Amino acid sequence: MSPAVVVTLPLPKAALAALDGPLTLRVWDQPGPMPREVLHEWLEGAEAVLCSLGTQFSAETIKRAPSLKVVSSISVGVDHIDLLAATAAGLPIGHTPGVLVDSTADMALALMLASSRRIAEADRFMRQGGWQTGWDAGFFLGTDISRATVGLVGMGPIGQAVARRLAGFGARVIAWNRTPRDIPGVEWVDLDTLFAAADIVSLHTALTSETQGLVNANRLAAMRDGATLINTARGGLVDETALIAELSSGRLNAGLDVFAQEPPPADSPLFALDNVVLVPHLGSATAATRGAMLQRALQNVLAGVRGERLPFCANPEVYAQA
Ligand code: GLV
Repeated sequence: MSPAVVVTLPLPKAALAALDGPLTLRVWDQPGPMPREVLHEWLEGAEAVLCSLGTQFSAETIKRAPSLKVVSSISVGVDHIDLLAATAAGLPIGHTPGVLVDSTADMALALMLASSRRIAEADRFMRQGGWQTGWDAGFFLGTDISRATVGLVGMGPIGQAVARRLAGFGARVIAWNRTPRDIPGVEWVDLDTLFAAADIVSLHTALTSETQGLVNANRLAAMRDGATLINTARGGLVDETALIAELSSGRLNAGLDVFAQEPPPADSPLFALDNVVLVPHLGSATAATRGAMLQRALQNVLAGVRGERLPFCANPEVYAQA
């Protein structure tokens, strides 16, 4: 029998054509994440997993699947997978770097613009029949990106792509990265200076044990009155309760693509606030980018089951210990 692959999300048959044939596919085709018990049951004897952000791979799950040769996630971030446990178990983890840089940077800019020019709020106002008076000099006044100081937290490929876009807008760009890099037009500052000086703070760093809760109540309190937090990275970077308190008081604004819990609970105070623009984790959501991510993820599955090195590996140290 050909090696078994567990696909933990509903994907059309055509999207999986490269695997179907050489491999035996078992596809979770229900809406919503695959329950943990079903995942554990399906992992028995499986050699590969094709998954995305909705499937948690804890140390316990990894321990239960000794036959696995690869877990391939259709995402660049792999914070849903216990990388240390995977590496210790000799399990290579595939991800999809590179191809979603521009789409995610576009989304960060879209949220900056939507928030600073109050696009979602004005759209709701018009649809509700609120526009009764014609052009109004004081209507929905916003702020200009060209006059803003934008602070970028994390200057990997996505942070750099955001900085390039902001240069076109004429914004002043300040940035923090664990290792400073020489990037023309970008001023390096420490994190405390960044939060205190920026009109817009945009997050572009991975979620790790070091960055979890990086945007805590103190950092939010240090932000300027009227400043905006943009998050297209991970909800876990931000203390969402503290952010909601700042948004509820009207002191800060936000543009959020990612959340502490996805989807947020139906009674989340975020839904009632006009000064936050909400998007359901769509940073990489263009047809071309999602197609490119899937291709990388399929290449990782095929390489993994053949026992070859993954072309896009999130834990390359797994090979050093072999
Ligand atoms: C999306 O959030 C990703 O990590 O690809």
